[in-house]
Amino acid sequence: MKILMVCLGNICRSPLAEGILKNKTKNIENIKVDSAGIAGYHIGNSPDTRAIQIANEYNINITQQVARQFCKNDFSKYDIIYAMDKSNYSHLVSLAQTKEHRNKIKMILNEVRPGSYESVPDPYYGGDKGFENVFKLLEIACEEIIKKIE
Ligand code: 4NP
Repeated sequence: MKILMVCLGNICRSPLAEGILKNKTKNIENIKVDSAGIAGYHIGNSPDTRAIQIANEYNINITQQVARQFCKNDFSKYDIIYAMDKSNYSHLVSLAQTKEHRNKIKMILNEVRPGSYESVPDPYYGGDKGFENVFKLLEIACEEIIKKIE
């Protein structure tokens, strides 16, 4: 099972989603978790310091992650592609060229409230509270993801 978390910059939300799900699945075999960004602004960068900090508060280390841009090959490499928000979702849908690839794209918060298409708010321009909120939303979503995998 290969899961890809996708946000806009790959420095805030999707690195947290990757870190949280990796942490929760460390004792489960055959699960690969990765993340990518729709945009290329932050390619090669470490996660945002505020994302690193909130993860650290929950004993999750995301410092080794390096931002990369989503590419069309990811559709064949991953089984599930989780979008953090509606804009990411629409972008991914527009890039998918087959029905099979299209069917891999999901809104991550739909795991918590199916069919709601709620977005994980973009915390980039907000304060630290935004990151705490994002962390909690992703924690709940990852719990639901694991329930399905196990
Ligand atoms: P992310 O947050 O998509 O959760 O990584 C953002 C990071 C950077 C920018 C926007 C959102 N930016 O505009 O540079």
